[in-house]
Amino acid sequence: MRRFSLMMALLAGVSFSLPTLAAEAMPEAIATEAGASIADLKEMYVRPAEGDIPFPDDNKYTDAKYELGKMLFFDPRLSRSQVTSCATCHNPSFSWSDALPKGVGDHHNELGRRDPSLLNLAWDEKFFWDGRADSLEQQALGPIASEVEMNLPHDVMVVRLKGITGYAPYFAGAFPGEKDPVTKDNVAKAIATFERKIVSGDAPFDKWVRGEETAMDESAKRGFVLFNTKGNCAACHSSWRFSDSSFHDIGVGDDDIGRGKLVPGDPLMMHAFKTVGLRNIAERGPYMHNGSVSTLEAVIDHYNDRFAQRESLSPAIQKLNLTVGEKKDLVAFLKALSSKDESVTLPVLPR
Ligand code: HEC
Ligand code: HEC
Repeated sequence: MRRFSLMMALLAGVSFSLPTLAAEAMPEAIATEAGASIADLKEMYVRPAEGDIPFPDDNKYTDAKYELGKMLFFDPRLSRSQVTSCATCHNPSFSWSDALPKGVGDHHNELGRRDPSLLNLAWDEKFFWDGRADSLEQQALGPIASEVEMNLPHDVMVVRLKGITGYAPYFAGAFPGEKDPVTKDNVAKAIATFERKIVSGDAPFDKWVRGEETAMDESAKRGFVLFNTKGNCAACHSSWRFSDSSFHDIGVGDDDIGRGKLVPGDPLMMHAFKTVGLRNIAERGPYMHNGSVSTLEAVIDHYNDRFAQRESLSPAIQKLNLTVGEKKDLVAFLKALSSKDESVTLPVLPR
């Protein structure tokens, strides 16, 4: 919320009153016209120092927990059929999602929503598209027991894990001093520890923020300014993760009321979904909670004038009148948010 108001203060009165900006205009000039310099804008997107990941007090980081969590994340024996792991749907090869419009569960059944990426969730506050889980620990147990996802009741999971004797030393190492460490809560803690280390790497945008002028081309630089001014994207996609950790109805047309189900008294939460972070966004379409928007070009068209008009629509969503050139610039900027991340090695699983 604080970041949001800083943004608003910097850009006060700018977002919709600006004249159509010439695509060839210099970003520096545009930003000055908008009342905030490029340097001010860059300041808001500086990424945390490498390795500076927040871990909660009741689940501090240890290498042993991480190693166990990684095994559990990739272990299909956490599903009834023994073929579906967390990574089936949150696949590191697809930026921790699966490139499908909607998730596919343990019986090859289609789920109601798209599999979200797991990038940069250590900094998030609410989980799932509608924010119904308050921590990664709480979230992790959901899909295991969910009949439509992994379909393995927690008590059955614990019995199964105890039967895999090779796991015993890993649980003992991750939770030292506990007499009976193979519990569902420890499974959740280990998986959450692994997930917090899933962080997107340095992108051309970050290099540019640090002063490497040639790291991003001119089109992407213009796109960055549009993102913060005429496009009004930064009203919600704020901070280095490009998310305000909040919920909005952006007019994706379907019957899913999202957060409206959890907070029925708040009319603005009808059809509201979590603001998705935009890191590595070019690597993980199709987009939105229902996978209904297939390309980044189509995302920009959506925000320009294709959103569904309804009572709950966020006041920050208004027709943008973007020119063809401006649309291209926004897409070029979004593409500059992708990092070339190191390959993830698969763990050898205990027997
Ligand atoms: C069958 C596919 C599937 C499997 C298996 C699966 N997930 Fe998910 N996951 C989803 C879908 C779909 C959502 C979004 C559901 C919603 O928001 O209603 C989701 C949401 C999440 C989120 C929330 C992300 C966010 O941005 O808030 C996390 C974290 C997550 N899953 C972790 C896991 C872990 C850990 C496992 C294994 C224990 C797992 N998932 C197994 C499909 C799957
Ligand atoms: C009112 C807040 C708000 C504004 C303004 C906004 N967004 Fe979003 N954005 C969201 C929310 C919320 C979602 C998820 C919506 C859903 O799935 O139904 C989203 C989703 C997206 C996605 C898809 C992410 C994914 O993984 O599916 C992209 C890309 C995106 N926004 C880019 C932009 C751009 C570019 C702009 C400016 C032209 C913009 N957004 C303006 C809140 C906003």
